[in-house]
Amino acid sequence: MSHIVAPSVLSADFGNLQRDVEMINASKAQWFHVDIMDGVFVPNISFGFPVLKALQKHAKKPLDVHLMIVDPDRYIHDFKNAGAHVLTVHYEACTHLHRSVQAIKAAGMKAGVAINPHTPVEVLNDMLPDIDLVCMMSVNPGFGGQKFIENTYRKITRLKEMIAAHNSSTLIEIDGGVDMNNYSKLIHTGADVLVAGNTVFSSANPAQTIEQLVLG
Ligand code: DX5
Ligand code: ZN
Repeated sequence: MSHIVAPSVLSADFGNLQRDVEMINASKAQWFHVDIMDGVFVPNISFGFPVLKALQKHAKKPLDVHLMIVDPDRYIHDFKNAGAHVLTVHYEACTHLHRSVQAIKAAGMKAGVAINPHTPVEVLNDMLPDIDLVCMMSVNPGFGGQKFIENTYRKITRLKEMIAAHNSSTLIEIDGGVDMNNYSKLIHTGADVLVAGNTVFSSANPAQTIEQLVLG
């Protein structure tokens, strides 16, 4: 499978959100990555439903929604109504992860599970066949523009082995610090989806940067 590039809207210019959404629409990116932060699970607050609904109105590609919130089960149907295609919850925020994943799928979305840098991939072993996407955090969640954590490569290799052992089609998404120096190695190590915020939006030509990330 060729990999997917998901520009992170968190790094967009919110005063010109429609312009940035149209840029992604016209680019070679396959998904929009949308970060929802509640100021409790992570030390930052991003945006909520009004912004997500504005995105939904203009975005012509699937919305990959990454919830960095406590008690995500409360909002699963709201995110479906706001246009989420993939809905990702954090392993560290879900006491009953299996139930949360089943609820996401029952609501008609792909189910993702995110793990923080300190969380071993092994904790997902018994659930892998149920999970459509593992969002592997390669920075501590909460902010764009942070430095990539090198141990991520080892975790990708291990997760890839686990997915193969289950004969599962779970995708590996890498989120945080993806840049022009590491994207190739990430793809070769086994990443299926690359999230990129700062690298795309701080570049002189975001559409061209996306194209480069897509070509690998
Ligand atoms: C971090 C978010 C990321 C962030 C990535 O908590 O989950 O999706 O937007 O931004 P960059 O690519 O700038 O590290
Ligand atoms: Zn994210």
